Amino acid sequence: MVVPGQQNTEEKVFYPPEDLRVDAHVPDLNSYRALYKKSIEEPEEFWRDVAQEFYWKEPPSGRMLQYNFDVTKDKVQIKFMEGAKTNMCYNVLDRNVLDRNLGTKVAFHWEGNSPDHHLTITYSQLLKQVCRCANALKQMGVQKGDRVAIYLPMIPELVYSMLACARIGAVHSIVFAGFSSESLAERIMDAQCTVLVTADGVYRGEKLIKLKQISDEALDHCREKGSLTVQKCLVVKHHAFRIHGNDTCNKLQTRWNAECDVWWDEAVDSESDECDPEWMDAEDPLFILYTSGSTGKPKGVLHTIAGYLLYTSLTFKYVFDHHHDDIYWCTADIGWITGHSYITYGPLANGATSVLFEGIPIHPHVGRFWEIIEKYSVSKFYTAPTAIRLLMKYGREPLNKYDLSSLRVLGTVGEPINPEAWLWYHDAVGQGRCPVVDTFWQTETGGHVLTPLPGATPLKPGSATLPFFGVLPTILNEHGEELEGEAEGYLVFQRPWPGIMRGVYGNQERFENTYFRKFPGFYVTGDGCRRDKDGYYWITGRIDDMLNVSGHLLSTAEVEAALSEHSAVAEAAVVSRPHSVKGECLYCFVTLKDCREFNHTLMDELKRKVREKIGPIATPDFIQNAPGLPKTRSGKIMRRVLRQIARNEKDLGDLSTLADPNIVEVLLSQRCEAAA
Ligand code: PRX
Repeated sequence: MVVPGQQNTEEKVFYPPEDLRVDAHVPDLNSYRALYKKSIEEPEEFWRDVAQEFYWKEPPSGRMLQYNFDVTKDKVQIKFMEGAKTNMCYNVLDRNVLDRNLGTKVAFHWEGNSPDHHLTITYSQLLKQVCRCANALKQMGVQKGDRVAIYLPMIPELVYSMLACARIGAVHSIVFAGFSSESLAERIMDAQCTVLVTADGVYRGEKLIKLKQISDEALDHCREKGSLTVQKCLVVKHHAFRIHGNDTCNKLQTRWNAECDVWWDEAVDSESDECDPEWMDAEDPLFILYTSGSTGKPKGVLHTIAGYLLYTSLTFKYVFDHHHDDIYWCTADIGWITGHSYITYGPLANGATSVLFEGIPIHPHVGRFWEIIEKYSVSKFYTAPTAIRLLMKYGREPLNKYDLSSLRVLGTVGEPINPEAWLWYHDAVGQGRCPVVDTFWQTETGGHVLTPLPGATPLKPGSATLPFFGVLPTILNEHGEELEGEAEGYLVFQRPWPGIMRGVYGNQERFENTYFRKFPGFYVTGDGCRRDKDGYYWITGRIDDMLNVSGHLLSTAEVEAALSEHSAVAEAAVVSRPHSVKGECLYCFVTLKDCREFNHTLMDELKRKVREKIGPIATPDFIQNAPGLPKTRSGKIMRRVLRQIARNEKDLGDLSTLADPNIVEVLLSQRCEAAA
């Protein structure tokens, strides 16, 4: 138990500031514990109370939560409020405009890549734009249950189109606009999307990204594979119109297929600004979001409506201690789960005012984040450790130019945060006044699962602290035995909470194998975790073949597959290596085919290959020529050894199972010191 005044000798503890506790939703640890106890012991009643706030066309009648987590007994499934009828879009927009009188409240302050571009969107304007887009999608033939791919940058149309899908019961599949055409194609084909929403182009910092061209290439890939399901491509004139202020659009020389392509302003702006919501079952799908899988093929994580609505709404309210006059800013991209849950659905469900930012932290100058915080008087700020580490490098000077006194709560997400970055965030950005909520969660969990509450939880830098309401974490050892008290092992969850994924799209077997097969009866996160003597959880990182680059999960298998496609490569093995800004980066070992020479041109080609197959986020930092790879006698690559070589660890442990131990010496002597 953490007791105020009793300084922890192991780690420094930070207590919630008094001024925040005064009106906090959860003002102390005892209140947290009481609510948590209720959520675990009386989950039906707990969630029924939460559901009261929302609009139900048909109210919940039966059990709130039904599930099976034990793959040895039956099919794994999770159902929350099945039979109740509602609409996500109605709950996050109409309910605010009609029932809560928030029509004139700002939903988003949109801030462009360039500080000259900005827009303010109220809740009633947002509702109208969403209805127009919903009507346009219907005109294009989109019906309830159809999948719509969205490949857009951080512009208002991204929010309009995702909510338009939710309004008409279509399932959105948003693909981060930094993925390559092949990645986009793979996702479109897997979900059999019938419409693709994109933009002509966008600047990220100084770099122009030709989104329509990439989209065209993606549709070409689908066609080549005989799997072109997309019938219409809706294109936002963002580059031509919003950035250049003209309608010609020929700067990007966009290819135009009149049968398929439709300009957004022509199709959407003329539509009616009213559109009846489609009443959906609580368990109907809301969206698919692809995340890396350890086999190399991305998994379509499926979330459904009511559970996700309640969970993102409740976590947003408590974890950021949201109040009506807050200005909230999450710097993530909506292309990732953080943006889905904590830019769109959670904040809007609470009637919050948010900043929606198109740009990057260091454009046009390294103080851009701080400038925006001052400009909008941001009170709650949520970003990633990788951004904090990047900005740390520029010191405190850029911060000192701006007034950050509006800040009250800071948050982080995406990867373990090192105490040094945590302390800098707390001291330099938060000026020692603002709690830092280190939120642990996953695409699969839908919302925060281990997290502090800013008015209640004493903080230890680097720990995601305690479970959120309804979440029952457990630590298991290799044999699946539950470990009590202080312990380290596999982080699993014993039962579902409303926001957990419902499946892998179109693949129940993969869903069960990935998350439930290793330890029957538990959802397995894939992360290692330590519990300290106070019951605090410390994530120690992935324990599968995944790595976390700048807060984005990548699978080593996916990068290996991309490298192996190069004609010079016989075999490739990829491991992670620590990186001062990105957290982890990719270190690749490639064995070349006979007679192929390892040189700079080849390295550039290999990097290009990975960028083409996956996207720039997966670009390797290190590529080492490997005459052979350390393998067991049965031919399995010993990644542990490769990881140790990449990290320059001298003690390589037991190598007796290797078929050829000499290769380790060779690889060690040729390891890369500097990035490729
Ligand atoms: O390894 C954990 C890490 O990110 C993984 C989930 O990645 P993704 O599905 O892309 O979602 C990221 C945004 C929610 C986790 O399995 N991770 C996420 N948050 C934290 C974290 N690791 C440590 N601390 C965190 N706060």
